Amino acid sequence: MLLDVKDLSIHYYTLSGVVRAVEGVTFSIDKKEWVTFVGESGSGKSTVASAIIRLVPPPGKIVSGQIMLEGKELLKLSEEEMRQIRGKDISMVFQDPMTSLDPLRKIGDQLVEAMTVHGVDEDEAKERAKELLEKVNIPPDRLDYYPHQLSGGQRQRVSIAIAMAFNPKLLIADEPTTALDVIVQDSIMDLIQSLKEEGTSIFFVTHDISLAAERSDKIAVMYAGKLVEFGTVEQIVENPLHPYTQALLNSVPDLWTEKPIKAIPGYPPDLRNPPRGCRFHPRCHVFAEKGELKGLCDAEEPMMIEYEKGHFVACHLYGGSRNE
Ligand SMILES: Nc1ncnc2c1ncn2[C@@H]1O[C@H](COP(=O)(O)OP(=O)(O)OP(=O)(O)O)[C@@H](O)[C@H]1O
Ligand SMILES: [Mg+2]
Repeated sequence: MLLDVKDLSIHYYTLSGVVRAVEGVTFSIDKKEWVTFVGESGSGKSTVASAIIRLVPPPGKIVSGQIMLEGKELLKLSEEEMRQIRGKDISMVFQDPMTSLDPLRKIGDQLVEAMTVHGVDEDEAKERAKELLEKVNIPPDRLDYYPHQLSGGQRQRVSIAIAMAFNPKLLIADEPTTALDVIVQDSIMDLIQSLKEEGTSIFFVTHDISLAAERSDKIAVMYAGKLVEFGTVEQIVENPLHPYTQALLNSVPDLWTEKPIKAIPGYPPDLRNPPRGCRFHPRCHVFAEKGELKGLCDAEEPMMIEYEKGHFVACHLYGGSRNE
């Protein structure tokens, strides 16, 4: 196992109250495994991603949990030790490449610096910068370009080149293709896949469950700060257990069958004051239909259970009650 996250909770302490953005999230990622986090906007995907490299933006705080990278507890490391890990063992690519690129500096210098801060000597870093750009299909003469002289897709490829500098153990990619057209999107997905084939594990974030299904090994479904289902792509797509996962899959247009798209009714809750019990119950069609679930789904939080090997779900339909 490469990454093992246990019972992770993250709150944002805002002036208008405590936002319970992530609560009790547990999952793991194996070596060379691609795990994709899906869920509606605001479900906590980016917050989990930022916690893994300990860069939760203020006023956010990791309030509990454990994040182990190859047995090393990241939450116990000093800031200096963490800096050694970022960009080397764990790299990150964001939706907007300009979050990590400096607009005022040539991309070559930025690539070189990503390596020299970790002790690579300057000449070697320059050599390697050329190779990295070639790897992401950008001609090496672009080393002298500033980020604004490149297209959006090229900028994203540069940020992937930087992320690739040390063959990281883990790449965190938070919606890296959302702003790009489908063709460019595909080329970025190919690059991430090639990194995986070289041995890197991938933590990928998207709100598009069909994109998740294409390349990943496993899917993690988040709803309102909770992980509600986790399993292999096959388990999630062919046998979705949680009513929310089922609703997400039904909201994807299917070109071949022309089945009607069903939007999920209602809105995700305000995480300053999440619903009691299962956070999804106010929007859940099963809860609405099954009278006997009253007093359970709206009262008690379901625990995550292993429904079949490697397929986890937190929903009272499958047990998950503390009283069982
Ligand atoms: N800096 C912040 N201050 C206060 N609340 C925040 C902050 N960042 C995120 N949140 C809240 O935390 C929750 C989770 O946000 P997060 O950005 O992790 O969601 P997400 O799943 O990545 O959404 P999206 O798909 O829109 O990127 C949301 O309710 C959001 O409003
Ligand atoms: Mg996000």
